[in-house]
Parts: sequence; structure tokens; C-alpha cells
Amino acid sequence: MSAEIESILHENRVFKPSKEFSRTARVRSMRAYRDMMKKAEADYPGFWGDLARTHLEWEKPFSRVLNDSNPPFFKWFEDGLINVSVNCLDRHLTTPRKNKAAIVWEGEPGDVRTLTYQELAYEVGRFSNVLKESGVVKGDRVIVYMPMVPELPVALLACARIGATHSVVFGGFSAEALKDRILDAGAKILITADGGWRRGQTVPLKEMADEALKGCPQVSHVVVLKRTGQAVAMQTGRDVWWHDAVQGKSPKCAPVPVEPEHPLFILYTSGSTGKPKGVVHSSGGYLLGATMTMQWVFDIQDHDTFWCTADIGWVTGHSYVVYGPLSNGATSVMYEGAPTTPHAGRLWEIVEKHSVNIFYTAPTAIRALVKLGDEWPQKFDLSSLRILGTVGEPINPEAWMWYYKTIGGERCPIVDTWWQTETGMHMISPLPGATPIKPGSATLAVPGIFADVVDAEGNSLGPDKGGYLVVKRPWPSMIRTVHGDPERYKKTYWGEFGGRYYFAGDGARKDKDGYFWIMGRVDDVINVAGHRLGTMEVESALVSHPAVAEAAVVGCPDDLKGEGIFAFVILKGGEKSGNAALVATLRDHVAKEIGPIAKPDHIKFTDGLPKTRSGKIMRRLLRDIAAGRETKGDISTLEDSKTLESLRHEE
Ligand code: WT7
Repeated sequence: MSAEIESILHENRVFKPSKEFSRTARVRSMRAYRDMMKKAEADYPGFWGDLARTHLEWEKPFSRVLNDSNPPFFKWFEDGLINVSVNCLDRHLTTPRKNKAAIVWEGEPGDVRTLTYQELAYEVGRFSNVLKESGVVKGDRVIVYMPMVPELPVALLACARIGATHSVVFGGFSAEALKDRILDAGAKILITADGGWRRGQTVPLKEMADEALKGCPQVSHVVVLKRTGQAVAMQTGRDVWWHDAVQGKSPKCAPVPVEPEHPLFILYTSGSTGKPKGVVHSSGGYLLGATMTMQWVFDIQDHDTFWCTADIGWVTGHSYVVYGPLSNGATSVMYEGAPTTPHAGRLWEIVEKHSVNIFYTAPTAIRALVKLGDEWPQKFDLSSLRILGTVGEPINPEAWMWYYKTIGGERCPIVDTWWQTETGMHMISPLPGATPIKPGSATLAVPGIFADVVDAEGNSLGPDKGGYLVVKRPWPSMIRTVHGDPERYKKTYWGEFGGRYYFAGDGARKDKDGYFWIMGRVDDVINVAGHRLGTMEVESALVSHPAVAEAAVVGCPDDLKGEGIFAFVILKGGEKSGNAALVATLRDHVAKEIGPIAKPDHIKFTDGLPKTRSGKIMRRLLRDIAAGRETKGDISTLEDSKTLESLRHEE
């Protein structure tokens, strides 16, 4: 197989959508795509305004599409009024979708639940009343720390219904990380569960929440869903069981219309400096982005069963498990557990069982599935699939080809979607019925998005020149601010290129066909298994251990995760050699501070780090060492070249 892939790479193969596929697709040709782009170019507000009027339901229509009088604080559909839960629920209840499955859920132990739109609306109504009676009002922040169960989208939609702003904290984050987020968001209420299932074990969510809450005295209400039945401590006056709370509550709850700019959610993501940033998303613009890309990129049709495998703790789950599918009245599959429990074919079994038509996952998962062997997908009938998608990091052509052939049967277009927590929606991606695809390229910007690759001065670069990936116009689902820190928002995303462009932090090139090839982060952020981690965060976690004096963290190549975490650690008292036990202790310490995904894969003890004369760590050199590469480039600014030699010799 690999020889074949080699030649494919040399051939630079292009896969065109089949005629049958294009015939019934929502966007059927490159010409249709270009026409949309032309319209957006000629009348940008008109383009987005028409879509917003056609595809969303407004409590009060807007008269102005974009207010760009105070960049980079852009406002969309400013004087309208909207309710996101009405768009995801109520508007379907008067149509044949009323009894259509909204959520098809499977728990790790094999339990299955299906909620129709009507049933989902009923549960959301009841839980909205629980929130209201707990004193939650418009604008309050609600922290959600839950396993992947239907009550998680119920909680989000209930927040949206009453105008509360949710902030989901991924269930894999530690108590410490949860505490930081509760405090930063200023939340008074937490929704959690006793636990969730993962690899046949239970994750002790409530226990971790209790630990976090020790540092959050302002949290006065905790709602606990019983999922696993494990023993938990309930604090009288603060904690209530979900099933007790909804008991006897009315399913009717009048939606609170909000300004389109009202924050629907805050989601924390890593940056190169400081604590994670609370990315603030709007209600109207965000929903429009999720709704439209669901149509353009996933070609969602009424008869489709759509499965995005991401956890709702990440933006992918927000946009493509919850808001995009539900706003379109689609059927969204949710799975609680690990992809290999109880067997390595679990994902394919779910595809067969629920006859999944569109399947969306991360390259890291694909690489792990490749390793498990073709016999697993071959055991199951995957013929229902018609579109495959990837997100999170560049996909290597080898994994792409496996996905295309073994999972897609050479029949399904692959949409390689480039976007970010901050963009809210897909930004660069093929449209499956229109765009010829190339393995490893996210292809072209979606309609209405003006992306480019520029040099340090912001000049557009020609074909195959590597540079910075930027977006040249604001778009409806863009980040609005960093929670509590508008300056950080301005500086991080609009600080380069004279404030003219949104800078994503990624490097990229465009080929002669204008296709984007994403080259990875240019800042001190590493992409582990499709998720961003700030190297600084891991460094601070290490340094918070009493044995550690200094730490420097860089990414290193990793076959499965894309990037691994390599930590250089200087111990207190100058000891140079830490033993295996200390390595294990430090890894556990980082897991406790941030979460298991942040555990360093490699820890190297050293007595010095390569620094410039001004004291800046030369990470470029550390990256070379971590990757086992020769050091290329200039080392003349290095303060003491002996450090570098000794780091190398200890390999
Ligand atoms: C970063 C955003 C948005 C969903 C998941 C991650 C990288 C994302 C791709 C892709 C190459 C990609 C970028 C981006 N990335 N998708 N298709 N090809 N790289 O969200 O944690 O906000 O990370 O993920 O580096 O900046 P996130």
C-alpha cells in the first residue's frame, strides 16, 4: 500500500466528485461555488444577510447586517432578536420533523436512546425551568461538565432558551482545569454527572467537580445527572439530582429572545501565553455559520444520519453535534465512550447499526484505526456512508487514502475541514459535490470566506510560498472577544498586519490551483490529537511541582497523535538525573493540573537550556533535539553552546 501512496503523491492525484453525487448535492459544481463567491465579493452584507433571513428564524428581523465601525469588535445582525433553541427545536415541531430523530445516542455499555425533536423539546423545556428556578437569568454563565449523554445537549439548549451563556468543560479535564474555568467564567451554577463511561471504566466527574468546587465558593447550585450509578457525595443545599430537579417541571418555557450578539457560549482554548482563553461566541452569527456549513460542507439532507465523533467539550461538538445538525432539523448521532470498547470495530458497528451516512472524525483517530487492521471495518456494512470528514490537524496522505478506500469504498468524498475554536465554523474545506479533492489539502475557502496566505508584511504570496494563514474579512461566526479580556482578543487575532486581517496562528501555502495546504502552528502551541495545547500551560504545570526548577516544552513528531509533548526539565538542587519514578510522578502531576491529554510523552532532565543572550529559550533548537534532527540554521545568538552539546550527548 505505501508504494502506491508514494506514487499517488508524485502524481498529485485529484479526485473529482462523481456525477451521481453532484446531481443531488446542495452545491453541485465549481461554477455554483464560484457564483456564491462572486456574490459575496460584490455584496458582502447582502450575501450573509440573505442567508440569515432565509435559513434562520428571527423573533425580530434585523435591518443591518454588519456593523464594522469599531474593528475588530464586529457586530452582526445587531438590531434583530433571535433565540437559538427556537431555531434548533420549535421551528421543526410544526413540520414533519416533529417526530424525526434529533439525537440517536449510544452509551458505551451499549444502551441506546433516541430523542425525537418533540421529545428533545420536552426535555429542554423542563430543564429550562430547572435553570430558571435555580435563579439563572439571561447573561449568567452556566458550566457544563458532563459525559457524552443526551442531557448534555439538553442542558446547552436550555441555557440558550433562557439566554444563559454556557461554558462546556471537556470531561477529560482535571479538577484544577475545571476550577480555573469556573472562576474565569464567573459561574454560580454547575451541571455535571456522577460519572461517565470510558474504556469500560467510570470517569469520576462528580468527585472531580467537588474537588474543583472547593476553590469556587460562589457556586451555589450543582445539578447532578445519574449516569453510572457510582457513589457520590451530595452537598445538601447545593447539590440536586437531575431527575429530582426535573420532577413535575412544566415542559413549557417561553424562549427569551436575545440580541444576536448576545454570547451563546464561552469555550476555553489554549494560547501561546497565559491561561486558556475564554473564546466568546455570539448567538445569531454563530448559529448562521454552523447552519450554513452543515449544508455546504456536509451536504446535509433530510434523510441523512450524521455522526460527528467529537466530544461536545470541544468546538467541533458544539457546531457539528449540537447546533449545526439541530438547526437544520437533522439526525445527529452521539456516542459516549471510547472507539475501541468493547472491541476495535465499535465505530464501524455504530455506523452499520444506525446506518450512518456522513461520518466526521479526526486524523489522529483515523491513524489509530489504521493500526488496528482492516479486518475491523471489513466486519461491518459501511455502504450507508456517503461523505467522510476530518478535522483538527493536517491529514497525511497515507491515512487519507486508507480512509478513502477502506472506509469510504472509494465512493465517498472526504471533506478535510480547516477551522478553529475561534472561527466557530468550517473556513477552508471542499464542498463534496463541487470541489475536486487532493489528499492532504483542505482545498478552498467556504462561500463567503476570504482566506489567504501572506508574508510578514501582509502581502499575498504566490503559489507554493509558505506564509501566514489569514482571513481578510470578518465573518458571522467569528470569535467576538476573549472573556474578560478584550485587549487579548485584539492583540492575539488582530495584532499583526496592521489590524487588517484575522491571524489564525497557522502557517500555510497555496498551490497553483489556489488550494490551501496547512503547515501547522507558527506559535508556541502544539496540536496533540487534534487539540491545541499551549506549551506554556504544560510548563507552568511542571514548574508547580516542588522538584522542578525550570521546564521547557516543545512538540515532537508522533505517529498517532500528530504531535507529542516533549518536556525538558531542570530539577531543583541541580540534580541532573531524575529516575523513572520521578518521570511518572511528573506526568501524573501534569495530568492532575490540566488533564491526561497534557501528559508529556517524553521528559528529559537537564542542567541547562539553550538560551539567547537575552535569556529567551531557543525552542527551535529544542524542537530539533526532541525530533532527533540535526540543528539547522543560525545558533550564533546562543549564549552557551555547551548546553546544546550536552543535551545532544545525553540522548
Ligand atoms: C487548530 C485549531 C476546529 C476543530 C478542531 C480543533 C488545526 C484544525 C485542521 C485541518 C490542518 C487543522 C490548526 C488550527 N487544524 N483543522 N483540517 N488541517 N490543521 O480546534 O483546538 O481550536 O485548533 O487546529 O492548527 O489552528 P482547535
